[in-house]
Amino acid sequence: MKEEMIDLLMDKITGGLSERVFDYGSSPRNYGELENPDSYARITGPCGDTMEIFLKTKNENIEDISYTTDGCMTSHAAGSAVTVMANGKPVKECIRINQSSVLEHLGGMPSESEHCALLAAKTLHKALGNYATDKKELMLLTDWFDRHVNRYRNGEGTLPAALELKYLHSQRVAENARLIAQGLGLKKAKILLAEGCGLVHDIGRFSQYACYGSFHDADTVDHGKEGRRILEIEGVQSYFDADDWESIAWAVEYHNKKASDIPSHLDGETGLLLRLIRDADKLDIMDLVMQSVASDGFSELPDMLPQIRTGRELTPAVMEELMKNKTVSVDHLRTVTDFVVMLASWFYDLNYAFTRCLAADRHILQRIAIELPDTKDIRELLTDIRAHL
Ligand SMILES: [Fe+2]
Repeated sequence: MKEEMIDLLMDKITGGLSERVFDYGSSPRNYGELENPDSYARITGPCGDTMEIFLKTKNENIEDISYTTDGCMTSHAAGSAVTVMANGKPVKECIRINQSSVLEHLGGMPSESEHCALLAAKTLHKALGNYATDKKELMLLTDWFDRHVNRYRNGEGTLPAALELKYLHSQRVAENARLIAQGLGLKKAKILLAEGCGLVHDIGRFSQYACYGSFHDADTVDHGKEGRRILEIEGVQSYFDADDWESIAWAVEYHNKKASDIPSHLDGETGLLLRLIRDADKLDIMDLVMQSVASDGFSELPDMLPQIRTGRELTPAVMEELMKNKTVSVDHLRTVTDFVVMLASWFYDLNYAFTRCLAADRHILQRIAIELPDTKDIRELLTDIRAHL
């Protein structure tokens, strides 16, 4: 009897709404606008209520999502429901959220309010659709990249250790490229292009390692050229318009060349992606190698470049070349310390101030400095690099 009275009283208070509709409607979840969303949609339903959805993604998952509405309590309940249901989920899964799953999540709604669930689901779909349209090329490229890399996995799905490193490196270069492109204030389509190009910039490494068991270009194959060849024979250009494809092809082919060997026609707009990828690539290699040097003296380096041993002496030819040309050729490297000096020389070759800021955030020069011998030449080198920054 007592429970029946409580139910009746709650019905009076909530107007017959389910507990969750009342809860979400009176304390909305994820309400408000998001700054710099990856996608956005706004729909006004036949009832005159408007709903907006803002969403941010990371690695194809919804990282953050919010809604606004000028509607009543049940609109707030529906907006809260779709954002709660989508938050943290893979984008692909969120496409399944629809009016009936929203109603189910809410424990039902009065029939005259069910259109609120439809409006919320439709607004979410529109935001997801806008996201997918912008990301179409990147999604096709990511999908192709994973399928291509899978060819080099064994029966257990494992890549050789050296290729696993390249696979992870490619993903981090994509992330660095996106950050630099954002830092340069590029338009969204160009930011996505930079991210995609970062992902495939080292695609030539996979066939190179499978054929030769080495990443040493001089003894095997130029992995930049090889990367462009692979993209072309695989028909990847069909995902892009002609200008974007041209930028990607040049960036992949020339990302690993000495600055002095880059053709002058790439100085302008066509070469922007190349400069950006070169920075993104260097930034990750500097970071990764310095982590490895600090943890175990970069023990896996000789597996990648067989002419190098794990010693810590400095080869005189490396310093001579650096003092003369502010660059170090891979062919001269003999020890881990030589490799670290080469990384230091890359500070002269970073194209964008924003990349230098990212390098400073990651304390790269300090981490390089502590691994180098305390000699007069090295002190002068470090002072010169700091002045250059
Ligand atoms: Fe590379």
